[in-house]
Amino acid sequence: MTGARKVLVTGGAGFIGANFVRYWSDKYPSDRIVVLDALTYAGNRANLESVEDRDTYRFVHGNILDPAVIGDTMQREAIDTIVHFAAESHVDRSIHEPDAFIQTNVIGTNNLLMAARKHWIDSDSAPANHLFHHVSTDEVYGTLGPGDPAFTEQTLYAPNSPYAASKAASDHLVRSYHHTFGMQVTTSNCSNNYGPYQFPEKLIPLMIVNALTGKALPVYGDGSNIRDWLYVDDHCRGIDLVMNKGRVGATYNIGGNNEWRNIDIVNQLCSSIDAAFAANEQLAVQFPQAPAAKGQKTESLVCFVADRLGHDWRYAIDATLAESELGYKPEEDFESGFQLTLNWMLQNEGWWRAVMDGSYRDWISRNYSAES
Ligand code: NAD
Ligand code: DAU
Repeated sequence: MTGARKVLVTGGAGFIGANFVRYWSDKYPSDRIVVLDALTYAGNRANLESVEDRDTYRFVHGNILDPAVIGDTMQREAIDTIVHFAAESHVDRSIHEPDAFIQTNVIGTNNLLMAARKHWIDSDSAPANHLFHHVSTDEVYGTLGPGDPAFTEQTLYAPNSPYAASKAASDHLVRSYHHTFGMQVTTSNCSNNYGPYQFPEKLIPLMIVNALTGKALPVYGDGSNIRDWLYVDDHCRGIDLVMNKGRVGATYNIGGNNEWRNIDIVNQLCSSIDAAFAANEQLAVQFPQAPAAKGQKTESLVCFVADRLGHDWRYAIDATLAESELGYKPEEDFESGFQLTLNWMLQNEGWWRAVMDGSYRDWISRNYSAES
């Protein structure tokens, strides 16, 4: 698409969505960005602090389960581009309470597609161009064994958790709107992200917070499970490439070429925290409960706990298509991306404490006018 776009970012107050909004508004400053987010436990307006004052930005507190708020936002803002991040995203939660995943990830995605069809395809005042970009996951492909080739876009879907199944359903819905109604869509399926603003329930931020506060580091099973880690900015660049250069109707895998066993991640994290405390005496004052503050090894907190039900053993992304067609290449390796993440967590204790106890809401109401 050419010219300034009017972009609706669903789930823009979550981890990847907020990083994407910052990335996009820096790179395309004349685009209008409207964030639609229900502010669940995982959505924090504090994540969007750096864009809150921009004229081109607006926040809408709304749920994708509410067709009226979607339709109203699309109409009022003359939206021509949707980047769809909003989802329930945590596998453990989907094992305990799958219903919310079906609601948001399946019904919510369908609501957005219905609204997009109404405004972009069935309307007399439809924009000249439109694009629906759907952000999905490698988990739709199921699990790999030790010698299996990495997931390609041709790998058959075999989702194993309620989360993965709900994302698979949403991928199929997006595909069907292209095939049946001619909607201009793209989809990206991505591996495990990490970086600033990730809610401390996911492996890396949870382990950092627990290590700094002297709590156990719970490794599921024997810790041999493998994930393919991708720094969040590399994911944002990948989405940008798919949206601007990708074939309409196509799906692209985005990965980090960074397969790590969970136990190796946790051990690496422990030694990086020990090294950070050794290099900066102030950290022992700031985090007195951390083993590293008492001359002990962070590794002493590691404990092996009962495995996740249905725990997928290995994910690995083959991003050859995105590399060859779009020129995609991740810029951070795990060491550099992890150091950026650890430094950010050390410097933003206020953020992680506030999002974990919900007090960021008070912080936002002190700093910003009422939500729209
Ligand atoms: P997140 O849980 O951090 O954020 C989700 C956001 O969606 C939150 O701001 C939340 O308030 C919002 N939301 C949830 N339900 C909503 C609803 N009904 N209406 C409106 N907003 C709602 O998630 P994330 O890790 O940033 O993931 C974003 C997207 O990327 C998801 O679609 C996820 O499936 C996909 N993804 C994530 C990863 C990863 O490693 N985190 C990897 C691949 C794909
Ligand atoms: O692969 C992409 C997916 O990555 C995304 O689609 C999901 O939204 C995202 O949550 C993530 O799913 P995972 O289940 O892989 O991420 P999580 O951080 O929950 O766990 C990573 C690995 O670490 C996994 O093998 C389970 C393990 N783990 C996790 C936690 C929270 C532990 O061993 N201990 C823990 O406390």
